[in-house]
Amino acid sequence: MSVLIAPSILSADFARLGEEVKAIDDAGCDWVHIDVMDGHFVPNLTFGPPIIKAIRPWTKKVFDVHLMIDPAQPYIEEYAKAGADIIVVHAEADKHLDRSLQLIKSLGKKAGVSLNPATPEHILEYVMDRLDLVLVMSVNPGFGGQSFIDSQLDKIARIRRMIGDRPIDLEVDGGVTADNAHKVIAAGANVLVAGSAVFKTKDYAANIAAIRGSKAAA
Ligand code: DX5
Ligand code: ZN
Repeated sequence: MSVLIAPSILSADFARLGEEVKAIDDAGCDWVHIDVMDGHFVPNLTFGPPIIKAIRPWTKKVFDVHLMIDPAQPYIEEYAKAGADIIVVHAEADKHLDRSLQLIKSLGKKAGVSLNPATPEHILEYVMDRLDLVLVMSVNPGFGGQSFIDSQLDKIARIRRMIGDRPIDLEVDGGVTADNAHKVIAAGANVLVAGSAVFKTKDYAANIAAIRGSKAAA
C-alpha cells in the first residue's frame, strides 16, 4: 500500500500561509492537513472557514480538515463550503457521531472520525460503514511538536484489522517523524500527518521524502 504524506500547516508560517501551502504542494505532499482548534475542545485556537477559503486557490491537493472543535456539527457545512475535501470530527465531541457523519456525506465530502489517545477503537464499530477515514491521534491534540505516544501503535493495528478490506484510510497524527514513521506504517497506517517534521527546515521536499522513506535503523 502506498503511503500518503499530509503536512500539517499548524507548523507553517501563518503570515505566508498561501505560499506555504504552495511550497508543500511543490515539495510533493499528497494532502494538506488543516488543524482547526477552538480553545475549548483543545487548549489552543487556530483558524476557521475564512482562512481555509483563502488558501484554497493555492493548491489542488486534498484538504484534510481536522476539526478539534466541540460542537462540530453546527459548523460542518461552513467547512464544506470553505473547500474541505475530507472533514474529520472527533468521537469525543458532539453527542451524535452518526448524525455528523451522515451530514458530512450529504454535503458530498469524505467523512472521518478522530480518536484521542485515551479513546478506545470500539466506538468505530457501528459507524464503520459511514467512514472514509479514521484518524488516530498519537499525541493529545492541541499543539504541534509533541512526542509520539507508543501505546497508539497497538490501536492502529487493531483498527487496521477492523477496517478489513473496506476502502477506509487510516491516518495517524502527532509526533510522526522520519525516525518513527516506519513503525506507524508497519502497524497499518496509510496516511501520515507531520507538522514539525516537515516544516522544521526549509527543504520541505527532503523532509517529506525522509518521512516517506523511513526505515528502522540498521
Ligand atoms: C495536533 C494536530 C497535529 C499536529 C501535528 O493537535 O492535530 O496535526 O499539528 O504536529 P506534529 O507533527 O508536530 O506533532
Ligand atoms: Zn491534526
